[in-house]
Amino acid sequence: MEPVIHLESVTKTYHVGVGVTALDDVDLVVPDGQYVAIMGSSGSGKSTMLNLLGCLDRPSSGKYYLGGDDVSTFSDNQLSEIRNTRLGFVFQSFNLISWMTVTQNIEIPLFYKGVSRSQRHRKSAEMADLVGLGDRLDHRPSQLSGGQMQRVAIARALSNDPMVLLADEPTGNLDTNTGEEIMEVFTELSERGRTILMVTHESYIAAHADRVITLRDGRIESDVMDYKADEHHG
Ligand SMILES: Nc1ncnc2c1ncn2[C@@H]1O[C@H](COP(=O)(O)OP(=O)(O)O)[C@@H](O)[C@H]1O
Ligand SMILES: [Mg+2]
Repeated sequence: MEPVIHLESVTKTYHVGVGVTALDDVDLVVPDGQYVAIMGSSGSGKSTMLNLLGCLDRPSSGKYYLGGDDVSTFSDNQLSEIRNTRLGFVFQSFNLISWMTVTQNIEIPLFYKGVSRSQRHRKSAEMADLVGLGDRLDHRPSQLSGGQMQRVAIARALSNDPMVLLADEPTGNLDTNTGEEIMEVFTELSERGRTILMVTHESYIAAHADRVITLRDGRIESDVMDYKADEHHG
């Protein structure tokens, strides 16, 4: 079977006066259903990698196959289509729309996909249940705790049934206990077969994943399976 994600010799250079090589000749294969954490110190290339994986940007050179398609050559419109149909995003700052209810926030990707109103309602209720917010459908973000807001963001990211869930420091704005609760949601999603790529700089958060990749100066410094079994992290 095709891997969900395949980066082949991917380099990303930013030109701001001088050139900065943010990712340097990276190869990565992620099979369907794997839960991967990406670690590394500040400036190591984590956000650059997630932006490329999330089709928010293109490699300067190399190939990116997503679900077998070489998306490194896609146009902006094609990339936006791919983001809407194949990818789900969760951010540190939740990025919910404040004037929309929980249901409406969860339905945003379905709305863009042209899904009918009744199907949107059914799906958003199902997704809210999945993250334990079935009794908060008509709340606004300001009426929710940080952990609940992140749950809404996860439900929204999954509502269009993406190939990959991408998360950038999903516990970064949460206290330790709430962060652990969000990691329980991720673990459950992983057990249900979701493919997850999560950036974090906390080793105790990374320890929830099946595989931990550490970047250094834009290169993969280490790539460890069963990281949590290896040592104690946290
Ligand atoms: N838009 C940009 N323009 C110029 N340089 C950038 C840009 N984004 C990131 N960089 C540089 O690329 C390197 C990697 O950055 P980044 O991917 O943000 O790392 P991390 O997320 O691990 O902190 C850093 O040297 C950073 O300064
Ligand atoms: Mg970053």
